[in-house]
Amino acid sequence: MPIETRPVDGSVAREVVGRRLWEPLGDQTIDELRALWAHHPVLVFRRQALSEDELADFSALFGPLERTVRTDWASPVRPEVGLISNLKDAQARPIGGLGDGEIQWHSDQSYMLNPATGALLYALELPPEGGATLWVDLSAAYAGLPDRLKRAVEGRRAIFSYVKRLAGYQGVDRVISEDAKRKTPPIVHPLVHTHPVTGRQALYLDSTTTIGIDGMDDASGAALLDELYEFATRPEFVYQHHWQVGDVLLWDNGFTMHRREPFDPAARRLMKRTTIFLSRERHIVPEGSLAAAA
Ligand code: SIN
Repeated sequence: MPIETRPVDGSVAREVVGRRLWEPLGDQTIDELRALWAHHPVLVFRRQALSEDELADFSALFGPLERTVRTDWASPVRPEVGLISNLKDAQARPIGGLGDGEIQWHSDQSYMLNPATGALLYALELPPEGGATLWVDLSAAYAGLPDRLKRAVEGRRAIFSYVKRLAGYQGVDRVISEDAKRKTPPIVHPLVHTHPVTGRQALYLDSTTTIGIDGMDDASGAALLDELYEFATRPEFVYQHHWQVGDVLLWDNGFTMHRREPFDPAARRLMKRTTIFLSRERHIVPEGSLAAAA
C-alpha cells in the first residue's frame, strides 16, 4: 500500500500517516520514504512506541549508523542511540547531552570531514511548555537569495570549528575526550550544494560552528555569514515542531539547520536520537577538507 502523507506546515516537513515503525516496512515503502525525503527534509511520524533496537533498525534503513564523537551521550544499551536530555542519574550525572538551554541554528556533524547527515529524534518525555524544535529549509532559502548573495557564495567554502560549537554548550557538555578533539579539527565545506535527486541548490550552514569564509578576511567573512544567517532563517523558510510524546522526526542536515527553544530546567525532557550516514547518490553530503592552519 503506498504511503499516505499530509502537509504539516509549508513544504519543509511532511507527516507520514499510519505507519508503525516497529513493524517491517517493505521495500516499496522504504523507497517511497526515501523519495519523499528528497523533497521534504523533515519527515514526521506520530504515535510511535519504539525500543532502542527498533529505533536503530528503522534508522538503519536509510544508511549505516554513526557512533558520534559524543560517546558520553550514548545509550548504555545501544550505543548508536544518543540520549538528548536534561535528566540526571542517581549520582546527579547527566544521562545524556544538551540539557535544557536554547540551541542556536545548527546542522549536526557539520564539524566532521565526512558528516553523517541523517538524523532522527524520538520524543519520550516532554516539558509542559518550551523545548520546541525548529527546522529551516536551506534549499528554499537559497532559491530566495537575492542575486548579489548568490554571487557572493558561489564557489565559497566556510570554515567549521567544533571548538566554537562547544563554547555554546552548557556545563559538562563543553568537555570532550582527547579522541573527540583529534577527530574534530577545523574544516571547510562548500557553502552551496546541489541535491542529487531534485537538482535544487541549497546552502550548507551552521551558525554554531562557522568561524569564517576560506580566502576572505575575518571581517568580510563574518559579515557575509551574518547576512546569510539572517536571510536563511526568515520565518517563511522555518517549520516549528511542537512535540508530542511518541513523535519521531527524521531530517536531512544536508539542506537544513535546526534550533531548539529552551525549557524549564525543573521539567523533564527525554529524546533519543540516531545519526545516519546518507549516500551521496541520494542526498547532499558535504565533502570536507582540513582548514588551512591560521
Ligand atoms: C539537537 O539539536 O540535535 C537536539 C534538538 C532537540 O533537543 O530538540
